Amino acid sequence: APSDPDLVARATAAKAKLGSKVFVLGHHYQRDEVIQFADVTGDSFKLAREAAARPDAEYIVFCGVHFMAESADILTTDSQRVILPDLAAGCSMADMAVLGQVEAAWDTLTELGIAAETVPVTYMNSSADIKGFVGRNGGVVCTSSNAKRALDWAFEQGSKVLFLPDQHLGRNTAVLEMGLSLDDCVLYDPHKPGGGLTPEQLRDAKMILWRGHCSVHGRFTLDSVNDVRARVPGVNVLVHPECRHEVVTAADYVGSTEYIIKAVEAAPAGSAWALGTELNLVRRLALAHPDKQIMFLDKAVCYCSTMNRIDLPHLVWALEELVAGRVVNQITVDADTAHHARVALDQMLALPG
Ligand code: 13P
Ligand code: SF4
Repeated sequence: APSDPDLVARATAAKAKLGSKVFVLGHHYQRDEVIQFADVTGDSFKLAREAAARPDAEYIVFCGVHFMAESADILTTDSQRVILPDLAAGCSMADMAVLGQVEAAWDTLTELGIAAETVPVTYMNSSADIKGFVGRNGGVVCTSSNAKRALDWAFEQGSKVLFLPDQHLGRNTAVLEMGLSLDDCVLYDPHKPGGGLTPEQLRDAKMILWRGHCSVHGRFTLDSVNDVRARVPGVNVLVHPECRHEVVTAADYVGSTEYIIKAVEAAPAGSAWALGTELNLVRRLALAHPDKQIMFLDKAVCYCSTMNRIDLPHLVWALEELVAGRVVNQITVDADTAHHARVALDQMLALPG
């Protein structure tokens, strides 16, 4: 639906009044009505770098989800304030790894004498607490655009990786990009004692995958791929690495949201693409490339419901409050957590390549 013209005018006016004091970041999965006000759009890796590169902006309004705003707070200076227009914009995957559970898992590895050789790696889609844990224990953060580089680095530091919280990104990267086998990976279930694994399984594994997943990308199935191939001859299937292993294996291409955008831009006119990622992004790509046939991989509509929490009324509210001198919905990470999380984030930003 087109944006409410009154709200558009109010957001435009508030941004103009705030000028260079405010910088608006927009993740690719945000609604059109929000993305039109983003000073920069990107995937989570690009937005983390952009937040770190704007020391002059007093306010960073983060149109994305909670863990991204936390990372922005960690990477910005003490005087900068990060604002999430709706505090209910969380991420179900990030919520699947809670600090107490991860500490219990680490205790298990310590009792088995294998913690010292294990490097914790966490996907960006995790709370600041988890990033802090990883930083304290010599690990690194990764995103879907640098997971292989992060794992290459981790396997130079130790012989095992504990990968949090997305089992699919961990498995897909290990098996499809690093030459590990499915048997090298075990699935650690935080709701079961010892993760539901025997000491032998934990000792033998190279990749200990946390049992977390994305509720959006996890919905695509092998049937989605087979159906679209039957309906659209010659279609290119391009999926995000948060999709299940059998979906990624059956696809033609796999990559982060930035990769998906670049692949569609570079595709020849007339080509057909089924995209296994969030629907706001797929719709925008389809509109921007009318000469190509861009479609959603599944027949069922599927937005990320928490990304969609950030809508134009919330953005207008956050901006107008700033104009009135009030900071609402500020996201702050305590100094100790931020310090250790920053170590793991800086390690990611320093990865070669
Ligand atoms: P990227 O932005 O790293 O591609 O991650 C996708 C995602 O699910 C963000 O929440
Ligand atoms: Fe979390 Fe998935 Fe939504 Fe990204 S798309 S914010 S991983 S639930």
